Amino acid sequence: MWVTKEVVQEQGQQEQSSSNTTLFHVLDPRVFKRQLLDNLCGLATRVRMLAKSPAGAKLLQDLALNRRAMLYFTQPSTRTFLSFNNACHILGIRTSEIRDRSISSEVKGESFEDAIRTFSSYVDVIIMRSQEPGRAAQAARIMDSIERPVPIIDAGSGSEQHPTQALLDIYTLDRSFSQRGGIDGKVIGMMGDLRRGRTVRSLCYLMRSYTNVRLIFIAPKNFSMRDDVKTHLNEQEIAFVETDCLSEVLPELDALYVTRMQSEWDQEGESNDIDLSQYTVGKKQLAMLKPNGIIMHPLPRGPEIDPIVDADPRAMYWRQERNGMWMRVAILLKLLQLEESVS
Ligand code: NCD
Repeated sequence: MWVTKEVVQEQGQQEQSSSNTTLFHVLDPRVFKRQLLDNLCGLATRVRMLAKSPAGAKLLQDLALNRRAMLYFTQPSTRTFLSFNNACHILGIRTSEIRDRSISSEVKGESFEDAIRTFSSYVDVIIMRSQEPGRAAQAARIMDSIERPVPIIDAGSGSEQHPTQALLDIYTLDRSFSQRGGIDGKVIGMMGDLRRGRTVRSLCYLMRSYTNVRLIFIAPKNFSMRDDVKTHLNEQEIAFVETDCLSEVLPELDALYVTRMQSEWDQEGESNDIDLSQYTVGKKQLAMLKPNGIIMHPLPRGPEIDPIVDADPRAMYWRQERNGMWMRVAILLKLLQLEESVS
C-alpha cells in the first residue's frame, strides 16, 4: 500500500489514487489504483530511456546521493535483492544489507522491533523480505510509532504478498500490450502453485484497476487460488474461472503467467505428487498460444518452462526480470518524492 504517514496512523488501508500524493510504505497491493499504476509505468519508462545515455545515467545517479537504503532480506532472493540493490545504485543511493539473521544481533536476542528501529537510525528506506507473513506490515507499524519513521517496502512476505513484483508484472503486461489497447480486456492465465505463490496473489489484487480483464486460474486441485483472493475478485466483479487443464484454455490467453511449485512450503512433500507435465510450457504449448500471446514467469523457474521456450519472441520473463529494476527505480523515486526530477 502506498500510504501517507497520516493515513497509516488513522486507517491503515486507505486508497491512494493521485499521482501527486506523498507516498510512504509499500505493503498491500490492494490500494493501488489506475492513475498511480499508469504513473509508475510511465516513470519506469522515462528512467529506462534516460539511463541509455551517459548524460541521463549521470542525472539519475546524482538524484539521491545523500540517501541510504537498508536491504533486510532474511529469506532467499536473487532477483528482488539484485534489482532493488541496482535500482538504488542507479539513483546514487548507498545500500547496507542483512541477509542472514544469524549474523545480526537478533541472534543475541534483540527483538524485531529493536532491530527495525536500529536500521531506521541509519537509512532513509528499509526494503525487506521475510519468511513470515505480515512482517513488513509489523515493521511499518513500528515506524509509525517513532519520531523518525522511514518507509518500509515489502519485498515479499511469506506466501502472502509480493507487491513490487506485482507492479513490475503490471509494467510488463502494459508494455507488452501497448499496441493492443493495454491491459484492459485481456485474458490472463495464471498457472502453477497458485495457493502459495505470492506473486500471482498480489497481481490479482491489482487487476481491479483494469476493465474487462478475465482471469483463468490453471492449477492442480490442491494448489488452487485461495478463497481470500477469490472473494476479493468477486467483490470487485473481476471475472475468473478455474481449471486444471491448460490445453483447454491456452488458445484464448493473451498472457500466460507461469509459476513454480513452492515446495519450500511443503509439509509432507506434497509438491512431489503433482504431475508437472500438465502445468508445463514447451514446444507443444507454444504452438497453441496466440501469435501475440506472451509468457511470463516471476522466476526462478523449475521444470515448468522448457528452456526451448526462451528463444520464442513471446517469452517475456527475461524482459520481465529487467523491467523489475526499472519499476523499482520508479518506486524509489516516488517514495523519495524525486519524481519531478525526471519528468
Ligand atoms: C518470486 C518470489 O520470491 O515469490 N520470485 C521473485 O521474487 N522473483 C517467485 C518464486 O520464488 O517462485
